[in-house]
Amino acid sequence: MSSKLDNVNYGLEKIFEAADDFLPLNGTDYVELYVGNAKQAAHFYKTAFGFQSVAYAGLETGLKDRTSYVLQQDKIRLVLTSPMEKGGEINEHINSHGDGVKVIALWVDDATKAWKETTSRGAKSYFEPRKEEDQDGVVVKSAIHTYGETIHVFVERSAYKGVFLPGFKKWESDYNPAPVGLKFIDHMVGNVGWGEMNKWCEFYAKVMGFAQLVSFDDKDISTEYTALMSKVMSNGNGRIKFPINEPAEGRKKSQIEEYIDFYNGSGVQHIAVATDNIIETVADLRARGVEFLYVPETYYEDVLDRVGEIDEDLQPLKDLNILIDRDDEGYLLQIFTKPVLDRPTMFFEIIQRKGAQSFGKGNFKALFESIEREQESRGTL
Ligand code: FE2
Repeated sequence: MSSKLDNVNYGLEKIFEAADDFLPLNGTDYVELYVGNAKQAAHFYKTAFGFQSVAYAGLETGLKDRTSYVLQQDKIRLVLTSPMEKGGEINEHINSHGDGVKVIALWVDDATKAWKETTSRGAKSYFEPRKEEDQDGVVVKSAIHTYGETIHVFVERSAYKGVFLPGFKKWESDYNPAPVGLKFIDHMVGNVGWGEMNKWCEFYAKVMGFAQLVSFDDKDISTEYTALMSKVMSNGNGRIKFPINEPAEGRKKSQIEEYIDFYNGSGVQHIAVATDNIIETVADLRARGVEFLYVPETYYEDVLDRVGEIDEDLQPLKDLNILIDRDDEGYLLQIFTKPVLDRPTMFFEIIQRKGAQSFGKGNFKALFESIEREQESRGTL
């Protein structure tokens, strides 16, 4: 594997040139997962990840077909939704994919314009712009399809002062474990099928006005067995970054292929969340039972030769199994959880950037070998 960064095209000039951003995005508004049991999932994200109780919608708010819990930690907002009836779209989603991300909602100033700009460039509409209101004001939402059964909802909320969205009530809970220092979503990665990476990168470029940041090919990211290809798409102001992975030919089954098999198609592979202090955050997460991928101690023997000087002592990073990588602009610290669901599908990345704007390419080989050990134990390598 190559860890040379000098010939990587970050494409930043291209982004800063994009003065005419037809789809200005303020950030990620929320991420909604369809899950088998929202009440228990909410408990998990509070207990294990330090999310706070924010809002609720269900039978008590007049909703008959679903229950949703909204949790938040700093700028990261998670919505967990379960069906209340047999049949229907949510049940079908869970039946096919297991628990997983249905909605990546994007915060915009004008949800009608966002829908028009994207659908006129070829996006498939999920729903047309619509107003939702209650006593706290008005929200305009619209939505388009992206890879697999995942959708983007555009949320315009400048005329709304309620706790989340119309129809939700404040969720008061006596059980409020402390946050762990997670700040915002750094990036969200999609896994797509064989040969589909370019198609979806083109979708983000043409339909949503994103530009490509970094590209890897299968020679960059491969171990003895597994391989993948990945491209990173970013919106104009850089607040939204979507790496897209596809499987590549290896001696055995790629981790991306394993994901596609268990998810039954394309979907969100991981949500990377940023912290200002990864040592404290990861120590806390571990104490709360969050399981992480393991890299062997040998990783730390020569890591400083590769990445140079860092501010942190190596020992706590080694104790917590945190990985380090460097690019032209600085370095980053990162670690990956094991899948947080029964199926080997979605997981989280915890990341602290110290200047670096890349995604930890130098760690991929160590990580893949770690994932392969997990696949081996699942009999899916
Ligand atoms: Fe990542």
